[in-house]
Amino acid sequence: MLERYGHGGDLRTAEEAFGIPAQQFVDFSSNMNPLGPPSGVKKALHAYADMIDQYPDPAVRGLRSKLAQRHNIDEQSIVVGNGAAELIDLIVRALQPELTTLAIPCFDEYGDAVRKIGGAVYEIKLAAENHFEWIINAEDVCAAAAAGSLFILGSPNNPTGQLVDPSHIRSLLSMGAYVVVDEAFMDFVPDESRLSLIQEATQHERLFVIRSMTKFYSIPGIRLGYIVGMPRSLSVLRRLQVPWSVNSLAQLIGESVLEDSEFEERSIRWLQQERPWLTAQLEDIGFVVNPSAANYLLLRIPKSAGLSASMLQLEMGKRGVLIRDASRFSGLDHTYIRVAIKLREQNVQLVAAFKQCLQPNETHGVK
Ligand SMILES: Cc1ncc(COP(=O)(O)O)c(C=O)c1O
Repeated sequence: MLERYGHGGDLRTAEEAFGIPAQQFVDFSSNMNPLGPPSGVKKALHAYADMIDQYPDPAVRGLRSKLAQRHNIDEQSIVVGNGAAELIDLIVRALQPELTTLAIPCFDEYGDAVRKIGGAVYEIKLAAENHFEWIINAEDVCAAAAAGSLFILGSPNNPTGQLVDPSHIRSLLSMGAYVVVDEAFMDFVPDESRLSLIQEATQHERLFVIRSMTKFYSIPGIRLGYIVGMPRSLSVLRRLQVPWSVNSLAQLIGESVLEDSEFEERSIRWLQQERPWLTAQLEDIGFVVNPSAANYLLLRIPKSAGLSASMLQLEMGKRGVLIRDASRFSGLDHTYIRVAIKLREQNVQLVAAFKQCLQPNETHGVK
């Protein structure tokens, strides 16, 4: 099981499972931008050598100022964290919700963070027939949006790739709920300014938006994310956060990647081209591909293949290709996998490996 520690991209576990050196895998199990990191990261790494003997800025002022400019919001509306993962944990600890509603399937960390503080989770199941779109019945929403309860949702959602229309979030707020929108993959969306709730989060005391910098800029090792909300609502988070949670290298790299607008434009162009191409290739070999606004695709394995998600993951792993067994997401069964979208050459490799595994006469040799 490659998700032994709960996530994709675990090359060390893959190395142990398949006896192939970590660097030789083509990794479709975590969703990094294959064009990254931007070239400025190397310069930041060199500059860092002279800073390692100093404490990081505890208030992350340089990076907050750049983020504030980018989103046209006040610096006081931003708290930077050690990856979006830290901020999911932190906002749940700050809000201490008794009841949290999740529309499943969604990122596991939401439920985990809530259970860690002893909160209850109410799950609403999104329907495969509707491509896992945020279509939930009014009774479910009203029951869950009772004043004081918390909704955590991803837009685009992981693993489905579906965006949530901002009007749905506004209606939850109007019913009195607290809402945390995880926009970890929003940088990949061309009309981000219409679909992101960052601006509104600075005006509404029950709305918070979390962003990750690790996916779009391909810097998962450095851990960087931020949360946007009203300054007054964010003060509890600041109090709960471990001092110097964001190290100085992460701050420096964060500032440098935000200066590279050419990288951003190139990344959007790449995805606009590669997503429809890969979707068509995968549909050709029998997968049902969920429509996605992000840089990954949720796939349903064709029945004729006679393979479960874990079996297919094993077969692909033996061939040096890592995919995500999506049956581990609550709300999905053993027929689902998730793959990242990469460069054309790697995508071709993915399709070729799938073709080998899905051949009816293939002996799969599952141990
Ligand atoms: C939807 C979603 N939110 C948050 C995170 C955490 O991101 P980070 O690397 O910034 O901690 C992930 C990581 O996979 C994710 O998929």
